[in-house]
Amino acid sequence: MSSSARAAAPIGVFDSGVGGLSVLRALRAELPQENFVYLSDAAHAPYGERADEYLSARAVRVADYLVAQQGVKALVVACNTATAAAIHTLRARWPGLPIVGIEPALKPAAAASQTKVVGVMATRSTLQSAKFKVLLDKLQGQAQFVLQACDGLAAAIENGDADTAQTLCARYVQAMGGFGHADGQMDHLVLGCTHYPLVESLLRNLVGPHTTLLEAGPPVSQQTRRVLAQAGLLLPPGVAGAVRLLSTGSTAELGGNAQRWLGLNGVVIRAQTETGG
Ligand code: DGL
Repeated sequence: MSSSARAAAPIGVFDSGVGGLSVLRALRAELPQENFVYLSDAAHAPYGERADEYLSARAVRVADYLVAQQGVKALVVACNTATAAAIHTLRARWPGLPIVGIEPALKPAAAASQTKVVGVMATRSTLQSAKFKVLLDKLQGQAQFVLQACDGLAAAIENGDADTAQTLCARYVQAMGGFGHADGQMDHLVLGCTHYPLVESLLRNLVGPHTTLLEAGPPVSQQTRRVLAQAGLLLPPGVAGAVRLLSTGSTAELGGNAQRWLGLNGVVIRAQTETGG
């Protein structure tokens, strides 16, 4: 395949469900000319309370499908949980494929925090992962991190269950302690799961105006641009690219969310990751 034909191939983006749409939103803002295939692995969501072996197996299945059936030129793992469990496996499996992962934005939060107290909301699996421990160790002494495993929150967002999402957000924010810019308060809150930016307004109401909410979609998009440029796979600016939406679960749910969050009206296709076809 010529290099211009390869560059025209889509970028594969996947998550356990609709959360990765928050990353796709940032990717489309950063790289509007690129084509994207978004896969929601909703039949196996939520990922956040699963074991590493399960997550790794799912990530490999989904990535195999995106590479073999969708012909992607690069892969963005738009899920903190899957990145923590499987990014090394994916990179070892496709050494030539540009692969970008996502991790909770602790580093920028620690650097920007004035109070040096930072809240972190993420899935239990992300917080328990070896990759997250390495990240925490690296930042030791730079800030105090208040970690909150948010069991059930991604599932509530996934199911569009606004009442449960509201109850859980309130419970977890309260459990973390004081938010604000006074001494000892958390002036930054890291949204360490890609589902959480979809309930940003709920969280904003709970933490008040003096706390910065940080999501990793924009830095991941900038990293995707760098990685594509290095590989000679970046499309030049021009016509707006296309987005193909795929789900292993409910196509209606992904369609509704893509409409709601990104204004996308495309038909959602059922992805058969089990048979590879
Ligand atoms: N959106 C995913 C993340 O960033 C996982 C949510 C879930 O399926 O539990 O961690």
